[in-house]
Amino acid sequence: KFRIAFIDGDRWKLYLQGLGVTIQIAVFAAILGVVIGTVIALMKMSTTRTGKRTIFSYLAQAYIDIIRGTPSVLQLLIMWFIVMSSSKNGVLVAVLTFGINSGAYVSEIMRAGIQAVDHGQMEAGRSLGLSKAQTMRYIILPQAIKNVLPPIGNEFIVLLKETAIVGYVSLSDLTRVASQVTSRTYEAFMPLIGAAVIYFIIIKILSKLLERLERRLRKGDHR
Ligand code: ARG
Repeated sequence: KFRIAFIDGDRWKLYLQGLGVTIQIAVFAAILGVVIGTVIALMKMSTTRTGKRTIFSYLAQAYIDIIRGTPSVLQLLIMWFIVMSSSKNGVLVAVLTFGINSGAYVSEIMRAGIQAVDHGQMEAGRSLGLSKAQTMRYIILPQAIKNVLPPIGNEFIVLLKETAIVGYVSLSDLTRVASQVTSRTYEAFMPLIGAAVIYFIIIKILSKLLERLERRLRKGDHR
């Protein structure tokens, strides 16, 4: 059974290709998600001189509400069949969809991370003559990075598994490959459990690395 699921006809190559698609989408979407998320978080927190919310703040809120308020499968289908229906590049469509999706979640992570930095830090920066933007860039954000690392790691793990829905738009990621092998060989157990084990191992390695990175960043940080 193992042979049927993985060896015959070089099936293991299919899983590798599938894993490649999965990782490629997750990595690029995560990068896009962090960029979008940071911008959206700053937009959402922006205020006018008199302390009122800006138009950007409302726009950011609308984006977060829409993305979080609809299922990611639907967002993927809408992107594939409506927004980018002329694109033949499924991976690109998936990267954009997941990047935009992740951005909404990341923005809330970033906002929490920034707001967890002590107020005194902004006051200190301002009283040293830095502008609001400079203080944000050189004093607040570097400290916020430590705060957001664990939830960002979590977000990447969610993203990696969430890509399992790209089979809906005919991409052959790891999950799709496994189900295709199942339908071709009438063998369910090995392909599906095999795919699950591959995800598990990748994510286990990833969380170990994250743990180590976190520990290194906390070094010399006695709080
Ligand atoms: N599958 C859920 C949805 O359809 C969860 C998405 C979570 N995404 C994330 N990047 N944290 O909305």
